[in-house]
Amino acid sequence: MEKVFTAEAKLSNLETLSAMSRRILVTSALPYANGPIHLGHLVEYIQTDIWVRFQKLQGNEVYYFCADDTHGTPVMIAARNRGISPEELVNEMRKAHFEDLTSFQVEFDNYYSTNTPENRALAEEIYLKAKEKGHIHRETLNQLYCEHDDMFLPDRFVRGICPKCGAEDQYGDSCEVCGSTYRPEDLKQSRCAICGTPPIQKESEHIFFKLGDFQAYLEDWLKTHNRVDEGIRKKMHEWIDQGLRHWDISRDGPYFGFAIPGEQNKFFYVWLDAPIGYIASSLNYFRKTGKDELFDDFWRSEEHEVYHFIGKDIAYFHTLFWPAVLHAGNFRTPTSVFVHGFLTVNGEKMSKSRGTFVRASTFLKHLDPECLRYFYATRLGPGLDDLDLNTGDFVARYNSDVVGNVANLFSRLVSGIASKLDLQLSEGLSREGKKLFAEVSGKKEAIAGHFERREYARAVREIQALSDSVNRFISEKEPWKQIKADAEAARQTVTDAINAGMALSLYLKPILPVLSGGVEELLALESPLTFVQELKPLPAHHKLRKYRHLAGRIETAAFDAIFEEERSAAAEAKKEQAAGAGSSAAGNSQGGKNQKSSKKAGTAKSDSAGEAPVEDSGIITIDELEKVELRVGRILSAELIEGADRLLRIQLDVGEENPRNVIAGIRSAYNPEDLKELSVVCVANLKPRKMKFGTSEAMLLATGKDDGLTLFVPHRNAHPGDRLG
Ligand code: MSP
Ligand code: ZN
Repeated sequence: MEKVFTAEAKLSNLETLSAMSRRILVTSALPYANGPIHLGHLVEYIQTDIWVRFQKLQGNEVYYFCADDTHGTPVMIAARNRGISPEELVNEMRKAHFEDLTSFQVEFDNYYSTNTPENRALAEEIYLKAKEKGHIHRETLNQLYCEHDDMFLPDRFVRGICPKCGAEDQYGDSCEVCGSTYRPEDLKQSRCAICGTPPIQKESEHIFFKLGDFQAYLEDWLKTHNRVDEGIRKKMHEWIDQGLRHWDISRDGPYFGFAIPGEQNKFFYVWLDAPIGYIASSLNYFRKTGKDELFDDFWRSEEHEVYHFIGKDIAYFHTLFWPAVLHAGNFRTPTSVFVHGFLTVNGEKMSKSRGTFVRASTFLKHLDPECLRYFYATRLGPGLDDLDLNTGDFVARYNSDVVGNVANLFSRLVSGIASKLDLQLSEGLSREGKKLFAEVSGKKEAIAGHFERREYARAVREIQALSDSVNRFISEKEPWKQIKADAEAARQTVTDAINAGMALSLYLKPILPVLSGGVEELLALESPLTFVQELKPLPAHHKLRKYRHLAGRIETAAFDAIFEEERSAAAEAKKEQAAGAGSSAAGNSQGGKNQKSSKKAGTAKSDSAGEAPVEDSGIITIDELEKVELRVGRILSAELIEGADRLLRIQLDVGEENPRNVIAGIRSAYNPEDLKELSVVCVANLKPRKMKFGTSEAMLLATGKDDGLTLFVPHRNAHPGDRLG
């Protein structure tokens, strides 16, 4: 039996948790070295950083490692186009990435690179061990080759006419117009995306990792408690059930990567050495800090905890290939892989032309990085759901929660009142103050639990509710009036409220380290707040520092400026491209043998290095349409819901054994009694939505709003469960 430590198991005993420090190694996915950090990336780095900061505040020994993912064809071509070496390019990128990420207060223990001696040695070690154990296989493939560039062309580096619909200038693996996928050989009038020469077919031997050898192992691995989210486990199972195919881990030169030992002109495919970069980053850190022994403790035994945070597009690599490769190489596998969803902006996929593909550096010019951290926290949970950056909500939430509720509390108390009282607190808490302090500090454990389970949105809700209590307390006491009549009463109010506010600032610390640091400064604390120590009121007659600005209101205009800046940058880049920068047609992507398979896995993107964001034309493919299951449903019953004046609870027969429970926002247009026996159209495979009044298991199709809303009903001959389309 494997010994597995899970966050959950640990959490079951919070007392031991604070008494006994855990050793935890955490990673975020390594950003590709051929594009800048954008707000999508930051979902991941901020999510990870909040967790890491929380774990550190819990008194655990935590290490947060990351690196740049440097290898592959796109980097090689980009460097060639700029007339610099790939090494120069990746060094430049790494600096830029590190600067962007740290500006958002993402605090790594080490930010390394995959193009390093440690990573080379580890990749070789793991490969050779796998080979020794018989998990390596060779096979000759026929591939497109550019005689001008002397290289095999990854799918994404071949352009031509789609064999299905005739659209021009399509990639070698799929057509963006009709959505069909094909082999690069089938493309018509194909040409090399780098130089325009028509490619030839050429044979080459490739090296494969026999993933199929790990079928049973992976099944078990995925089953282990808390290893991955249930949705991911199911998805990976679909793959396993189809039989796992060999994974092509070699690329022929010229290729920017590590040479495969014992081979001529063959290099490890970027995805082989990329995750090994996690280990390499830690090795580099443990060596330079004199903690060498921790390396084996973390990676060659299951003694401690290891977690990877990743986006759902790369789950396949992290929950199938990666554990198999680690196992083959005699390394331990991660305790859990935490998978998050994708960012959209105002309800749409990020788009360069619309200016919503926002780079970290652009955001920083217009807004305080902590407002992004806060907003993401209000939206993040442990699930795979995508999250939307709605600019209206973003601005409103920050202004009301952080500025209006939290920062305002301190400014009202300190600059408004305490400054007139020599910044000195009273003897201690009043009776009411004790009650307030108990209410706020009593939530410490619960809030810690939310952070532990990555339920940040819940943590934020809890914190805001407490913050409301403190503000209410202040409003009721009216210290601005008290100070005129009875200075000591005002001092007491400040004392009571500021102590409660101190606890709030601890709770916000993983999310808003700068703001919380400002509060600690203001409160002149002897030592920084942590979740480990008991929350105690400040000492008698404690002296505060002078108020310094904590957070300021933001305006939606900031986003207008951000989008505008990105739009014009994109237009500029397009102009340059049109002016004929040779390789632009290849995008930033790097295809490979695996690309097709990873698509089938339902992952959102190819295994390519630095996927250029595909322009979102709004057009979907037949496959995408087919995902939506539209069915006829018959309403068996409909009823009002107490406390919800816009909703109805409906029992809907969709041809299954049991009717589905549907909660529909149609009350303003329909009376329940008018709906009975009505046939309607519903989306039957939408993820069930948990609502306050129960779970809704299907969505009715309707148009219009309020009392103008109308349901869609079939014209004739429709039966519950009939599928549309
Ligand atoms: N280089 C690989 C990862 C190798 S890990 C051994 C890669 N790089 S990436 O730059 O494309 O993405 C880095 C991380 O950011 C991934 O986990 C990815 O899912 C995440 N995100 C990139 N765009 C994103 C959004 N729009 N939204 C949320 N996360 C996204 O993949
Ligand atoms: Zn060429």
